[in-house]
Amino acid sequence: MEMMRLKVGDYGEYCYIVSEEEKGRALIFDPGGHPDEIIDYIDNNGLKPVAILITHGHHDHISGLEEVRDYYRVPVYMHPLDVPKLALAGQREPDILIEETGKVYAIDGFKVRMEHVPGHSAGSVIYFFDDENFAICGDVIFKGSVGRTDFEDGDFETLMRGIERYLSPLPDDFILMPGHAELTTIGEEKKENSFLNGHIQFKHGKFVWVEHPDKDWFKHQEF
Ligand SMILES: [Fe+2]
Repeated sequence: MEMMRLKVGDYGEYCYIVSEEEKGRALIFDPGGHPDEIIDYIDNNGLKPVAILITHGHHDHISGLEEVRDYYRVPVYMHPLDVPKLALAGQREPDILIEETGKVYAIDGFKVRMEHVPGHSAGSVIYFFDDENFAICGDVIFKGSVGRTDFEDGDFETLMRGIERYLSPLPDDFILMPGHAELTTIGEEKKENSFLNGHIQFKHGKFVWVEHPDKDWFKHQEF
């Protein structure tokens, strides 16, 4: 299995392309902009997309969706709770609603476990490739941080419960591929990420930091 990520759109969102070597079948995750570049990469490498999977409906993850889906004519997977965001962006509905999460979907030979992990967005999904030891996480978690929860349908405690339930139990070397910035592993985040190692806590509606060595650290973060 091969993996490529392309930085697209205004906010440096990563579109991931997972492909298998033998027949070049490919899954496209979050075509969030620059559809021409995504299509060029896929065509120049002889890949054959079989589906598009959306982690959530924020515009920086879906802005290139219409062009890419029209070009390849493959089904689009998405959680139903984020479908209204597609309509707001003037885009068509997905083809397959991920109504049933927690199960492994077989898509043309790919095995993908889909889990609903809301909190950053109501319909956020993490796509797990358990046999290959990685997951495509959207904006649930980042290296050193977690997703924003100040949108209308966001909720910090919900987000953290999802991370605790679905990511914390993974083996330390399990690779997390977020929608922005660097790749990481769950082991690294459990050690270094202040939201997971207990240095930052959410109390009485506010973030507070506990025992962080740099007292100004919190002031410079954006959540
Ligand atoms: Fe987002």
